[in-house]
Amino acid sequence: MKALVCHAFGPIENLRVEDIPVPEPGPGQVRVRVRAAALNFPDALIVQGLYQVKPAFPFSPGAELSGEISALGEGVKGYAVGDRVIAASGHGGFAEECVVDASRLMPLLPGMSFEQGAALVLTFATSLHALKDCARLKPGETVLVLGAAGGVGLSAVEIAKAMGARVIAAASSPDKLALAKQVGADELIDYSKEDLKKRVDELTDKKGVEVVYDPVGGPYSEPALRATAWRGRFLVIGFAAGEIPKLPLNLALLKERSIIGVYWGDSTRRHPAEHLANLHDLAAWFAQGKIKPVISETVGLDGAADAIKRIANRQVKGKVVIVP
Ligand SMILES: NC(=O)c1ccc[n+]([C@@H]2O[C@H](COP(=O)([O-])OP(=O)(O)OC[C@H]3O[C@@H](n4cnc5c(N)ncnc54)[C@H](OP(=O)(O)O)[C@@H]3O)[C@@H](O)[C@H]2O)c1
Repeated sequence: MKALVCHAFGPIENLRVEDIPVPEPGPGQVRVRVRAAALNFPDALIVQGLYQVKPAFPFSPGAELSGEISALGEGVKGYAVGDRVIAASGHGGFAEECVVDASRLMPLLPGMSFEQGAALVLTFATSLHALKDCARLKPGETVLVLGAAGGVGLSAVEIAKAMGARVIAAASSPDKLALAKQVGADELIDYSKEDLKKRVDELTDKKGVEVVYDPVGGPYSEPALRATAWRGRFLVIGFAAGEIPKLPLNLALLKERSIIGVYWGDSTRRHPAEHLANLHDLAAWFAQGKIKPVISETVGLDGAADAIKRIANRQVKGKVVIVP
């Protein structure tokens, strides 16, 4: 089978599409014939050795996918060969076949394409977990989303709207902001040109926002924390800008603000019931048309390394989907 293969941590250019043996599922695992796999920022980190998870070599990136089950490992119950599924694979998805633990599967939803299925779980479940379980977002509160046209950012805009919040979307260009507007953002800030804190003050009558969703880090985190209201919640999602910011803790004290770390992957393993409830919410919202993954382009396996390079270079909007 064909797969995008990483033999050693290093530059993204070193990734190659190769012919490798079809993997066999072990006990509790299934093999999925991959119909679509979605690109995420961690794919760029994992192949460079910059991600918290470091798979054994050789491996393929690709953290989420959809497809049909092509083989069952020993002891797997509740699934059959041919079932259409979505899988949170962690890695291995940029390949024609991928082995995943059966516990990381859910059925592809009715009316959902393989591309949409591949692009649903990682971003939307992260944003729902962050806004619901971590921030306890209430209807009528205001959420500031940084990197609002990125994968997790766009999903946060959609989820916050589905939860009844007012959303201020911040991003670095007019076309990225237009995309955030298209999925429901109420207000827009171009933080490449505008002063983030000043604009939030203007948009909230100096009160600030109740929740900040920050997948970007770098120079934006401190002004965003300063723009957080009394008893506001600041969600630490990621550091796509590359720099992990160091924030003055007096900003937390002065307004009784909470700074909350979010680690979706680990939380799904530690709190499986909470994760399952969130997947049910996502399925219901998808069926009601309240949320929908925004797929900006689809590429073949041959285009996957280039797409990984582009997400690392801030050149991707919404989700890129790889169709092997
Ligand atoms: N905590 C969790 O559980 C969890 C789960 C999933 C993902 N994440 C993390 O969330 C972050 C975003 O992931 P994603 O898949 O949504 O990525 P993405 O689609 O690339 O979005 C990230 C956004 O960050 C902004 N950005 C600012 N400076 C950048 C730079 N130098 N390079 C690249 N992007 C830059 C870009 O928006 P502008 O150009 O508009 O600034 C971009 O749209 C990553 O750090 C990822 O590891 C965390």
